[in-house]
Amino acid sequence: MRLRHIHNGKEILDSHPRVITEPEKLDIKLESVFNRSNPVHIELGSGKGLFIRNMAMKNPEINYLGFEASTKVIFKWLKAIEVEGYLDNYFIVHSRAEMVKELFSEQSIGKIYLNFSDPWPKLRHERRRLTSPSHLDSYKLILAKGGELILKTDNQALFQYSLNTLKKEKWRIKYFTFDLYKSEHIMSNIATEYEMMFVEEGKTICMCAATLDNNP
Ligand SMILES: C[S@@+](CC[C@H](N)C(=O)[O-])C[C@H]1O[C@@H](n2cnc3c(N)ncnc32)[C@H](O)[C@@H]1O
Repeated sequence: MRLRHIHNGKEILDSHPRVITEPEKLDIKLESVFNRSNPVHIELGSGKGLFIRNMAMKNPEINYLGFEASTKVIFKWLKAIEVEGYLDNYFIVHSRAEMVKELFSEQSIGKIYLNFSDPWPKLRHERRRLTSPSHLDSYKLILAKGGELILKTDNQALFQYSLNTLKKEKWRIKYFTFDLYKSEHIMSNIATEYEMMFVEEGKTICMCAATLDNNP
């Protein structure tokens, strides 16, 4: 189901009150789209948005932006919120994760979540991994002092790669676990759609939180 196959698809996305399309054309930085100055947290590759929807409900004092590149997936998110309604502390951003450096001011983002990002296992695709050095450089620019990058995945190879790259790029790992569901961090965990599916299949979930080396 491509956007052109959805009657009025582009118009629906462009006019939807919770969707920001073509954010690069806005003459403001994305963190300013909320009409209050609360912290802004972002998720890159949000899928159907279950994580952002639940986080926004649990933390009304935080503003959330969920980046999703696929129009087809955003339509599924919109379908879900047709039923449950939407909250005013999040927006869906129809854009690629690669854009964040252009879209946000320096040190404007409190947390960046990477949940079950595509693993891109082939070495020649390393640059596409959302924890590659060039992506980490973008996150360094936009993360606020004390900000965190939080990553969850079922893919052990991607996880090990991410831990190694974070260390090489001088991030400080605050904590990590190869089995989230047997760790203390499960107490505050909000599951994502993919996570629920993987847990159901008996897979273990890896998680880590990292901060910039010069941050407390
Ligand atoms: C495996 S799914 C995970 C979805 C969700 N985070 C979860 O845990 O349920 C990855 C999602 O990221 C989106 N995606 C992949 N690469 C992206 C990129 N570079 N920028 C934005 N979204 C991306 C895909 O379209 C897909 O919906």
